[in-house]
Amino acid sequence: MTRRATIAGTGSALPVRRVTNDELALTVDTTDAWIVERTGIRARHIAGDGETTASLGSEAARRAIEAAGLAPTDIDLIVLATATPDQTFPATATKVQDALGIRDCVAFDVAAVCSGFLYALSVADSMIRGGTSTNALVIGAETFSRILDWEDRTTCVLFGDGAGAVVLTAEDNADDATARGVLATALHADGRHNQLLYVDGGPSTTGTVGKLRMKGSEVFRHAVVNLAAVLAEAVEKAGLAVRDIDWVVPHQANRRILDATARKLGLPPERVVITVDEHANTSAASVPLALDVAVRDGRIQRGDVIVLEAMGGGFTWGAAVVRY
Ligand code: UT7
Repeated sequence: MTRRATIAGTGSALPVRRVTNDELALTVDTTDAWIVERTGIRARHIAGDGETTASLGSEAARRAIEAAGLAPTDIDLIVLATATPDQTFPATATKVQDALGIRDCVAFDVAAVCSGFLYALSVADSMIRGGTSTNALVIGAETFSRILDWEDRTTCVLFGDGAGAVVLTAEDNADDATARGVLATALHADGRHNQLLYVDGGPSTTGTVGKLRMKGSEVFRHAVVNLAAVLAEAVEKAGLAVRDIDWVVPHQANRRILDATARKLGLPPERVVITVDEHANTSAASVPLALDVAVRDGRIQRGDVIVLEAMGGGFTWGAAVVRY
């Protein structure tokens, strides 16, 4: 037997306002046809007044805690992945903690942009296995609409806002891949590429928040190679093979990246959870958002092997294999 982090519950939250490609085309030089053909995106949700990374993260967290059958006060650790915190500090995790009415727990943010949720999950998994946490809340929450250059059609059509969360609970389980819980994680970073996807401002450089800049086609090329490699690495670490995977829950950046990665690995496309059409790219929120959708619509069942994967600015990338 070994101590493992199992997924006890999932939750998600989206801003009220849904914006279609046609609506964007009224203010940006683009078309619904271009966006759908090149990305698969049809709509995204955009935060309105009063909707922030912390408020969306808190809502997703509440739903995950409820699904886990726990009370907020059972949570002893909050790891929140975001690149769009409410403020530079305090950590948005502490704002979620306050909103949930949790008086004492460990709470901090993780910054790994689109792969932030994989980094956060891996940290929480280690803390659970190491015995310092029993019920951990892992959140990916973003309001990228606030760091987009709304005059740059090459980036502003690609992103959306939202949040997703999971509750991880310690459980003594078998010491092999038959057990429920996080079976393996693999994380990577290569800072040589930080000029391909970045924000052109920050507290220590310009004193401003900055806007997102991306060399899309170069990011695309790296994404397919890195995601296929890290997915295979994590599956091997878990002692499984690609044929054992029931569901891949990937970062939702571009439908063409999802299709190309699945093809490269020989994965049947119907095993890949796709939400990019309705959510666009929500950065650290995209994986837990897609996971919650597929859990709640009944596709993902207890005992299924799921692989989560993402890549983003840095570059950073990672994957996790979980028996749900
Ligand atoms: O989440 C982190 C990871 N991020 C990603 O994984 C994003 C990866 N990259 C991508 O998804 C794709 O590269 C994009 C969707 C960003 C772009 O697709 P692409 O097929 O690589 O297009 P492109 O950048 O090569 O641009 C093709 C053409 C250009 O026109 P010219 O130079 O060929 O005349 C662009 O100016 O499409 C034009 N274009 C647009 N046209 C209409 C770029 N954006 C738009 C737009 N509407 N919104």
